[in-house]
Amino acid sequence: MGNSQRLPFPDGFLWGTASSSYQCEGGNINNQWYRWEEQGRILSGEHCGDAANWWEAAEHDFELAEQMENNALRLSIEWSRVEPSEGRWDSAAIDRYRAMLQDLRQRNITPAVTLHHFTEPLWFVERGGFARRENIRLFLRYVHHVVDALQDLCSFWITINEPNVYAVEGYLLKNFPPGEGSILRTFQVLHHLMQAHVDAFYVIRRLQPQAMIGYCLHYRLFDPADARWPLDRAVAGAQDTFFNWAALRATETGFFPFPLKLLLEPVYKAPGARDYHGINYYTRELVRFDPTVPFELFGRRFVKPDTLRNDKGLDQDFGEIYPEGMYRVLQGVYRRTRGNKPLYITENGFCDALDDRRPRAILEHLAMVWRAIQEGIPVRGYFYWSLTDNFEWNNGWYARFGLIDVDPKTQVRTPRPSASMFGEICRANAITE
Ligand code: NOJ
Repeated sequence: MGNSQRLPFPDGFLWGTASSSYQCEGGNINNQWYRWEEQGRILSGEHCGDAANWWEAAEHDFELAEQMENNALRLSIEWSRVEPSEGRWDSAAIDRYRAMLQDLRQRNITPAVTLHHFTEPLWFVERGGFARRENIRLFLRYVHHVVDALQDLCSFWITINEPNVYAVEGYLLKNFPPGEGSILRTFQVLHHLMQAHVDAFYVIRRLQPQAMIGYCLHYRLFDPADARWPLDRAVAGAQDTFFNWAALRATETGFFPFPLKLLLEPVYKAPGARDYHGINYYTRELVRFDPTVPFELFGRRFVKPDTLRNDKGLDQDFGEIYPEGMYRVLQGVYRRTRGNKPLYITENGFCDALDDRRPRAILEHLAMVWRAIQEGIPVRGYFYWSLTDNFEWNNGWYARFGLIDVDPKTQVRTPRPSASMFGEICRANAITE
């Protein structure tokens, strides 16, 4: 970008950061991720512990978001706090969330609230979680309770975060609880989650007719390792279809793509059951045909060599920094949904402890968002993942996504250079470089 260039964003664009309860609050010991920790499944051996201490003091970080002139912030509600045992509601937990949302609103920050961000109370897990279709009603009862209690403070809801990641990591690749490995089970769980979203949409719609309701998927680019090789193209295409587009197709049309639609019931009442498309975009992978990895649909995934990349995780490589992927995903969602709803980037972030790639990565990804908007794609907001460093699931504290560095031992905050740069963009409602 040249010196004098200024790329403006539309009026009312939402600028914020995203986070989740387990990763930020601390003290969540009544969910399946705590059990996973106890079983030694966090690769660094760490415990989430106090996380970023939000249960005690989220407001300190909200102040930093205000200083960055953010006008939105995404957080999630911890089901295991609100309903610690089946049918028993903890009003003190609701009060704490009310205090957080009130604090945000006083700062002119619009809250966007996720109702399910990977974690569930142990009692729900013991009943079989989302592997059992009849458990959807338990989720709906929780959704009703929360939305009823918070609707005067929030009208932007994300029902379920990344159902495709939850299903694939937990039921196929075994990196997340419950650590099963079954293709059929993976798609059954995905199917139940999509039905849970649709049903939750109608629960919320009835309570709060003016609410913005949607869910967000994780979109990842899968490109063939060798585009001239038909088998590489075929396996990359299969991963793309089943990871990125199967769930979207099911909520757009009610049906999963072939051959899944022969195995799974339709998603009932799906078409139209959302007000926006939520997009989490991070990276791309290359895919090579490999008959030894049937669970990955015969495609071995790897990070493009010699490219700008995120920090490596412990089990997982956070991979390539690939700005054009942002544009390709926005186009893909827009085209497949025929532009029927606005789009929000509910997550985009970079794992970079030294912050030596993040500032440029943010700028380049936002330039791609800007380009999409110029072409008529209705993107209405961007949430950077994440405001602060936080507990990155099975990678623990090893992976640093924050605009603000957190020392988990002392809880000392140190804003990274990216934080002031992001603040300038939010203030100007434009990329100013
Ligand atoms: C997506 C997930 O929603 C979030 O919980 C996670 O921390 C980020 N990606 C980074 O991996």
